[in-house]
Amino acid sequence: MGKVNRSITELVGKTPLLELVNYEKKNQLDARILVKLEYFNPNQSVKDRIALAMIEDAEKKGLLKPGYTIVETTSGNTGIGLAAIAAAKGYKFRVYVQDNVSQERFQVIHAFGGETIKLSEEPAIAEVMEATNGDFIAAIAALREKVLSKEKDIFFVDQTANPANPGIHEATTGPEIWEDTEGQVDILVANVGTGGTVSGTGKYLKSKNPNVKVVAIQPGENSLPSETNPEPEEITGVHPFEGVPTERVPSTMDLNIYDEKFEVETIDAYKAAREVAKTDGILVGTSSGAAIKAATELAKRPENKGKTIVAVLPDTGLRYLSTNLFNEEYQG
Ligand SMILES: Cc1ncc(COP(=O)(O)O)c(C=O)c1O
Repeated sequence: MGKVNRSITELVGKTPLLELVNYEKKNQLDARILVKLEYFNPNQSVKDRIALAMIEDAEKKGLLKPGYTIVETTSGNTGIGLAAIAAAKGYKFRVYVQDNVSQERFQVIHAFGGETIKLSEEPAIAEVMEATNGDFIAAIAALREKVLSKEKDIFFVDQTANPANPGIHEATTGPEIWEDTEGQVDILVANVGTGGTVSGTGKYLKSKNPNVKVVAIQPGENSLPSETNPEPEEITGVHPFEGVPTERVPSTMDLNIYDEKFEVETIDAYKAAREVAKTDGILVGTSSGAAIKAATELAKRPENKGKTIVAVLPDTGLRYLSTNLFNEEYQG
């Protein structure tokens, strides 16, 4: 039979590009916005790409063997991607998850047979998070040194420091955009969590055409915890890379790759995601809304008239039904 896949690993990537034709018209935009729909991956997010790449890289290097447990810390999508691929390949999976992540993410990881541990439940991590006011990179170091180093037969993935993360975006996401647009791409818009997407995709596109402008999204001031607002509504998976100490920026983020940093507030990300659901019938997550908001503002600039903007939309809106994303009464 010609088209039968035998593993979900064969279904990762090759996601479609969609022009937001109705949204462009409604907003009278003179630039094209093409969105790369990463929810077409087998577990509905861009993280399926890195999950598969990091696992297969570890297998090749002999770091991951049959009977091992795969371990990761993540705000969710990477955990889901890894849980599914671990299941399909027969590995056990354990993930340390931020406490405030939406409930459906925990449920999905459990469905794949994975184990979840909240950061606050692991004393070694909780201690560091408290002492450093939420330094996630320091917490990961503590987990590695104080907990994982005492265990055998585990592979710690660490998406914030694993070169296979930006590597797979350079090898697949970038080339897919280049081929599907036949090289007609002027601006790339991507969120920054680990920085894997923007660094790898940006590197590839700039290698094909150094004039491609790379725009990296950072949460706006009101969408980050502060003294006056310790628990703001945040953009899940998206973290600041400017205005924070460089040791808090994952090594997978190439700070030389972007031409512009674009700040988006959570409420504006929500509004863009709500709007595009109504104009073009796509249901995407909060960070996707942020990418659409940034692309819209770029499209309005006179110098971008007639240009093609490609925005990477990381995941599906279905993963946010228990949040305020599609709660129209919530206006910030
Ligand atoms: C929903 C969502 N959006 C965006 C990102 C950012 O992607 P990257 O880690 O490649 O920078 C992530 C990553 O954690 C995510 O989960």
